[in-house]
Amino acid sequence: MSGTAIPPNDDSAERIERRWAMVAVAIVVIMVVMAVIGGVHQAVMPQSHVETADPRRLHLGGEFIESNLGSTVEPDGSVTVRAIGQQYSFTPDCILAPAGVPVTFRMTSADVIHGFLITDTNINLMLVPGYISTITARFDTPGERHMPCHEFCGVGHEGMWARVKIIDKAEFDRMAADRRRLSCVE
Ligand code: CUA
Repeated sequence: MSGTAIPPNDDSAERIERRWAMVAVAIVVIMVVMAVIGGVHQAVMPQSHVETADPRRLHLGGEFIESNLGSTVEPDGSVTVRAIGQQYSFTPDCILAPAGVPVTFRMTSADVIHGFLITDTNINLMLVPGYISTITARFDTPGERHMPCHEFCGVGHEGMWARVKIIDKAEFDRMAADRRRLSCVE
């Protein structure tokens, strides 16, 4: 047995490495292409509706006048919460919502950019002066969550937060029966 042995394949490891390097480069290329397509698509097709609210006139009338803030039951049984962020608080600073039904938040800022998030949920938006931020969520269980401002907005930023109280739907409906707007501000 001589002369016919197959020479050991010394460059097989190199070939495998080169193949994996190509896979890694391909993944990067795919991600860059996805980012470019996503960015271009968003730039050429803006959101279907951008709602605006003049931050200088929120308190004078319209949707965000003080008497219209808080939680309200819509004809379809869902709940709408309207609130304002301003340096350095939210109004109302205790938001009441029922568990188990869709809750739509409509928020805006009266001055600078604030952050709006509710702990233990994936609710996380920016409140930009001039624009209305909306998000719909459903809270599964009653309980108290916190709502800290998460965008640095000035010296009082770290003290800017509100509470969100999620209560039983039946209890919420009872309270909503004789009041137009609900909150848990004491
Ligand atoms: Cu408002 Cu930070």
